[in-house]
Amino acid sequence: MENARLEDTAQALVAPGKGIFAADVPPQGLINGFWGDMREPKTIDAARDFQEMMFRTPGLSDHISGIIIFDDVLEQKSKDGNTFLDIIKQQDILAGITPTTGWQKLGSSPKERVPTGLDGLPNRLEKWREAGISFVKWRVAARIGPGLPSPLAIELGAHSVAEYAALAQAAGLVPIVEPDVEMRGEHDIQRHFEVTEWFLHKTFEALYEHGVLLEGIVLKTNMVLSGSDCPIQANEETVALETLKCLRHIVPPAVPGIGFLSGGQSDYKATAHLNAINAHGPQPWQLSFSYGRAIGKAAMMAWDGRTDNSAGQTALLHRARMNGLATLGKWAPKLEKPVSS
Ligand code: 13P
Repeated sequence: MENARLEDTAQALVAPGKGIFAADVPPQGLINGFWGDMREPKTIDAARDFQEMMFRTPGLSDHISGIIIFDDVLEQKSKDGNTFLDIIKQQDILAGITPTTGWQKLGSSPKERVPTGLDGLPNRLEKWREAGISFVKWRVAARIGPGLPSPLAIELGAHSVAEYAALAQAAGLVPIVEPDVEMRGEHDIQRHFEVTEWFLHKTFEALYEHGVLLEGIVLKTNMVLSGSDCPIQANEETVALETLKCLRHIVPPAVPGIGFLSGGQSDYKATAHLNAINAHGPQPWQLSFSYGRAIGKAAMMAWDGRTDNSAGQTALLHRARMNGLATLGKWAPKLEKPVSS
């Protein structure tokens, strides 16, 4: 019964035409420009108003299956006294939480980090489940560079995300499992392929060892891309083919779906790549999105501060709709609005 519920929730998160909005940026992160410049005034109140504006976007559930927020945003109150969790649930969107509490450098490789937050996690998961949270997300990151990533970082990352996933399922929450090989760097697409394949391989090995029900997870990972500073940038079709090849090597068909992260790609590229991937027809898993910046940044740039929410909501809904179409392979460049100069 519990397994069936996990499976239903995982499938709902990657339902065709929909994807996840990763809004798990703390208010201070928004103010500091993680998604783009926040309009004045740059205050915690403004950040809260911005998030409320996004979560209240009419029609968002047509394209968004789940929204991820931080724990401290959960109980945040809107102007009319509702919690942000209530607002998300009223939209008929599943609510998710990021349970990581920070990052710790590896003793033997200080350029690499593993997330913290496993201590006391079962109690927090229980509390969230009772509050009406449906899923959680745990990101482990690998960086490409001279001597990086180290085998230890890959191994520790895989075991951390697998242990979290086992605890989440035991609490009745769907774990989003997020091994992310960052795109920043000078590496070419082949190097990104190799490291992504390696990290996914170790992650699925660890998920097996930790007894995780594959039908009850969503995989969140990177597309296979050229490094952001690589002089030769692979075209959209190459990205699609390399990403599909890598996933087919490793990801078992039991996994219901994959929600890609945008990872610093432009809004346009994140959508175009997802569409190119889905244009290859049905795969063993749904191929969807779990974008943060590639959905939220446009809303932040368009938001008119405290006076008018409609510009921000229109921008957010547009990106959600474009990515929803890309999950079906039905997006086209002409559907993008002309960029005003
Ligand atoms: P981006 O899509 O901005 O990379 O964020 C997704 C995310 O949740 C990273 O953990």
